[in-house]
Amino acid sequence: MPPPAGEGGTPPAAGEGGTPPAAGEGGTPPAAGQGGVTRSPGSVGLDLLEIARLERALERRPRLAERLFTERELAYAAGRARPGQHLAARFCAKEAVAKALSLDGLNFREIEVVSMAGGVPGVRLTGAAAARAAQLGVDVAVSLSHTDTSAGAVALLR
Ligand SMILES: CC(C)(COP(=O)(O)OP(=O)(O)OC[C@H]1O[C@@H](n2cnc3c(N)ncnc32)[C@H](O)[C@@H]1OP(=O)(O)O)[C@@H](O)C(=O)NCCC(=O)NCCS
Repeated sequence: MPPPAGEGGTPPAAGEGGTPPAAGEGGTPPAAGQGGVTRSPGSVGLDLLEIARLERALERRPRLAERLFTERELAYAAGRARPGQHLAARFCAKEAVAKALSLDGLNFREIEVVSMAGGVPGVRLTGAAAARAAQLGVDVAVSLSHTDTSAGAVALLR
């Protein structure tokens, strides 16, 4: 998904993610998100991004970084050889989480990628994203990847 062109970010795409459990199987009924899309543990989100696109957007708009990323995310990336690679993966993670949760609008800083033991990425939610996860009764796991040219992330509700 392309980097955001303006304030407030891009709305997540609807209709991606897991299959809701079949009715009558005893599970918790899936909660309806934006547009009636259902979400429940097992729902997923996926996003891919060309790293150079984000790097160009960040160069053109110096204040974009602080709208998209938390201080910790920026510090993590700044300590690496090619910050844009890690920022692009984190951008994808935010979009992937927004898809998995079927968020109504996306405040990128409400979805923070944190590094846990061994470099395993985790997610810290605040604001509307945290409220949505609480409504669904889920937490969110992510996995990130990047090559020289592309970054991607997948998010899983559990
Ligand atoms: C850790 C490892 C899986 C990363 O894979 P890679 O192909 O080198 O790199 P990718 O671009 O696909 O993934 C990089 C991302 O993986 C994530 N990552 C790092 N260590 C991780 C781990 N132990 N488990 C899960 N994710 C990890 C990070 O988010 C990283 O991105 P970031 O630096 O921007 O945060 C790789 O170094 C590896 O295979 N190590 C040896 C085996 C190993 O230790 N596996 C860990 C599972 S126990």
